[in-house]
Amino acid sequence: MTTVKIAPSILTADFGRLADEVRAAELGGADMLHLDVMDGRFVPNITFGAVVVDALRKVTRLPFDLHLMCVEPERLIEQYADTADTINVHIEVSPHINRTLDAIRRLGKRAGVCINPGTSISAIEESIPAVDQVMVMTINPGWGGQQMIPEQLDKVARIRRLLDEAGSPADLMIDGGVKTGNIASCVHAGANVLVCGSSVYNDQRSVAENIADLRRAVRA
Ligand code: DX5
Ligand code: ZN
Repeated sequence: MTTVKIAPSILTADFGRLADEVRAAELGGADMLHLDVMDGRFVPNITFGAVVVDALRKVTRLPFDLHLMCVEPERLIEQYADTADTINVHIEVSPHINRTLDAIRRLGKRAGVCINPGTSISAIEESIPAVDQVMVMTINPGWGGQQMIPEQLDKVARIRRLLDEAGSPADLMIDGGVKTGNIASCVHAGANVLVCGSSVYNDQRSVAENIADLRRAVRA
């Protein structure tokens, strides 16, 4: 049986008390922390960069899964050499993707490639041997709290087949709109790591309760 990992994204956390929010994810049983770095160019928003990630590194032992929503990501990766465990870059802004993935691995990090809803799988197919993770965006990136685009689950299933055919042990991650109501379908499509933003950080329930609910929904 595949072990499913939950990666809370702090994008909808309370940025005024970020350290507490991160500790809550660790105490609540998260498997890693998903960090959304946005540059105001690849996506309209600007979130945070290496200075904040450095500060968060000091408050938790959770692995850091860094999602660079930035143009020219190859210019930024070294800034996360001491903090990130996995560095994910978008194929849409990586003309020399294999060089970038190699550079990430040379830093001793796991290398991930992200693919937007409108990008065809063929864009990443040749890079499968060079990746430790494929991240499928099931929303158009830029904001938390959006609805999942359900058609993207078919793409997840097709990428799962490609990874299996290649004998790749890479993780298959879904980012965007994962909730208790669809998390089982995400796993059924072949994902084994789920980014959960607004389904973990919201006003309805505590971080720990939300993580527990999501885990229960996977098993249901
Ligand atoms: C959006 C980010 C996501 C976001 C997911 O561009 O990449 O990681 O935080 O948030 P939810 O789970 O609310 O869609
Ligand atoms: Zn993300």
